Amino acid sequence: MTEDGVGDTFQRETVHRRDRLIGRYLDWDRKPGTYKSYPESPRVALLEAERPSTTLDHVLRVRRSVRDFERRAIPLQELSYLLWASTGITRRERGYEFRTAPSAGALYPVETYMAVNDVTEVPPGIYHYSIRDHALEQVRRGRMGEELARAALDQGMCARAPLVLIWTVLFERSKWKYDQRAYRYLYLDAGHVAQNLALAAVALGLGSCQIAAMYDEEVNELLGVDGAEESAIYLSAVGWPRA
Ligand SMILES: Cc1cc2nc3c(=O)[nH]c(=O)nc-3n(C[C@H](O)[C@H](O)[C@H](O)COP(=O)(O)O)c2cc1C
Repeated sequence: MTEDGVGDTFQRETVHRRDRLIGRYLDWDRKPGTYKSYPESPRVALLEAERPSTTLDHVLRVRRSVRDFERRAIPLQELSYLLWASTGITRRERGYEFRTAPSAGALYPVETYMAVNDVTEVPPGIYHYSIRDHALEQVRRGRMGEELARAALDQGMCARAPLVLIWTVLFERSKWKYDQRAYRYLYLDAGHVAQNLALAAVALGLGSCQIAAMYDEEVNELLGVDGAEESAIYLSAVGWPRA
């Protein structure tokens, strides 16, 4: 048995019991918004998502982690579909917008950023995905692949892949309702988004590798997020699989 640590304490102390549910009184006036935006940033409009024709069965059978990519750009059309499929809006009901991936309490704490190394019509840089506008917002200019690879424990695929998605969470969006139990849900939410991405990539003939090994603070610095209110938690390198 390994020694007890902070993770074990967390697991014990965030269980719901019949005599103690973890959560907060819902103060609707202080409900955090579910969209982040960079209103001053240069934008790239994404395209209407064209639907790949394949079966779910094929996609499930073919998906695997791909770490070796061809040196070939991802077209904007493919990027548009990947972003929509991972976390885009599918329906509006009673004033709420719902997305392709489920989210605890429909609070949507996950934000999507990306390092664009080689995507047609998109200059290299770090971008934020504006879900509501289906557009990219430029956070930083320039090819950041090498820097991201170093921050991902020297995993060179982040430099070689034409695209690396970077998911962050805004903790308060979920803690507003679930308090400390939110930390269980945030990571589940991100897993759903990442799996959508992985399956959509296969449907387009692309491959991806999910990556959680990173120097968290270095990735946060690259994005310009503080690590306290918002922190990077997951990455996915995406590209054309090398045969
Ligand atoms: C939470 C999580 C973190 C992962 N982190 C890394 C990583 O940092 N580097 C890497 O090469 N693969 C990473 N992977 C990919 C796994 O190694 C891979 O999914 C596993 O070996 C199963 O292989 P498959 O995806 O090809 O089915 C990660 C997967 C998950 C789900």
